[in-house]
Amino acid sequence: MTKEEYMDETRSITDLILKAKEKAYAETNNEPEPGLTTSVEWPVHCEVGPGLEGAIAGETEIGYVNGTKGWLIYRGYDIFDLAAYSTYEEVSYLLLHGDLPTRSQLSEYKQKLIANRHHFQTKRQLMGFPIEQWTPMSALRLGTLFMRQKQTYRDYESYRSESMSIATDEDSIPMEIPPYAESHAKYEFNKKQFEIPDMDTGNLRGSEGLESCYRLVAALPSITAAIARIRSGHLPLEPRSDLSHAANFLYMMNGKEPTPLQARVMDVSMILHADHGMNASTFAAMVVASTLSDIYFSIGSGIAALNGPLHGGANEEVLKSLLEIGSPENVPPWYEEKRKNKDRIMGFGHRVYKAYDPRARVLEPLASLLASDSNEYTKNLYNTAHALENQVVSTLGEEKKIFPNVDFYSGIVYSALGIKSEMFTPIFAVARVAGWTARVYEYLQHNRIFRPRAVYTGRFDRKYTHLGERGN
Ligand code: SDX
Repeated sequence: MTKEEYMDETRSITDLILKAKEKAYAETNNEPEPGLTTSVEWPVHCEVGPGLEGAIAGETEIGYVNGTKGWLIYRGYDIFDLAAYSTYEEVSYLLLHGDLPTRSQLSEYKQKLIANRHHFQTKRQLMGFPIEQWTPMSALRLGTLFMRQKQTYRDYESYRSESMSIATDEDSIPMEIPPYAESHAKYEFNKKQFEIPDMDTGNLRGSEGLESCYRLVAALPSITAAIARIRSGHLPLEPRSDLSHAANFLYMMNGKEPTPLQARVMDVSMILHADHGMNASTFAAMVVASTLSDIYFSIGSGIAALNGPLHGGANEEVLKSLLEIGSPENVPPWYEEKRKNKDRIMGFGHRVYKAYDPRARVLEPLASLLASDSNEYTKNLYNTAHALENQVVSTLGEEKKIFPNVDFYSGIVYSALGIKSEMFTPIFAVARVAGWTARVYEYLQHNRIFRPRAVYTGRFDRKYTHLGERGN
């Protein structure tokens, strides 16, 4: 199916996105915030709250979140236009390179992504662990570290001597010296591994750094799908090179080829989740990379940060809330209880957006479209969510500027695509890896290790007392 046929087949998706854009334009304007969209003279003076709220950590050309107005820009393009007309392949290229790809650039980039979808050793090693007992995000983080076993920048530095490599397969980390009591080792010594494996530096300076970024953008869908399959008692599927990034991901997750509409919905959702300014997981990835650690550790820390229910983990919590409420009629009593206990309503509020999250503006009609064509379970999920949105926005919207964020409707979309809620946050990582790698790569071109300070409110001048003088 050509891109034109595909876009025709999924015209309904484009139309609902453009309608959401129209509504957003009608409700606000996209005036950039002067203090946040012009180059600064360092050191910069800004008001900083706890948790670095308001702190300016650097300059970037990758993306901009207009929190007061509820707008999101990737490399100068409005998120509504990218969601309506682009693909995740184009958008991840845009985030990494700064421009939308030409036909030949896109074709070459797609080939690289397709070639990097295969990670059989990584998957095989994952299968050596009881990952059905682990959370999918911890398995995903492990999978990212397995990827690191290719010669990364640091390992290569030390990999000079004529070391004997003990390899269960070509991904294993070569050992400088044979392990103790190697005669009992379960591994076979394998001289053929002797030559230095192709070095994936993980080091992000220069063009080979971008290759590492491509590898991660391509690999996370495969590893995430393998985790989903292993956890449901199936063997991981090999990727299909004839499917788009989003379609192949859904195929590897569910074991069947998605319809053009399903693939398009996943593609749009991945575009919406691809980047979002200096959010906690992006910042975590950048902090680790700023120490000149390698990109696999850096992305592993992004995965760890995203896992939290205040961040990417909220989409799974939203589904739990909706199932707990059970029906639209139960929203008021449930909500009163939450408010009484001063509980956070998952999927609402945002550190930066004090207006409607533009991504929720697209995910809501997508959830509605899929639910209308789905089973009673999904229909009820959507109706309950819609009732909860009305309840929260009518009470906290104007007063506290609390609106639905990206996590509120994404779970309903994924549920309608047949995906289990335990995989919702890993899917967030599968999309966000483009923003993580792009921002890490950009920052490292002018690196400065992150090292903020804390105000010391402790005591001074205390005299040391020996144990005997400290009582029992
Ligand atoms: C993501 O940073 C990013 O860009 C993140 C993200 C991305 O793409 O990377 O957009 C993705 O993480 C979206 C957020 C997903 N998290 C949730 O949905 C969890 C629920 N949301 C909240 O925990 C909260 O809104 C945060 C964590 C998202 C933001 O919290 P802040 O900025 O620290 O807000 P705050 O604690 O200063 O709250 C201000 C007031 C408080 O009331 P008061 O104490 O002033 O009376 O707003 C209230 C809060 O109690 N409040 C909420 C609320 N969020 C804030 N009250 C009820 N429900 C909520 N969800």
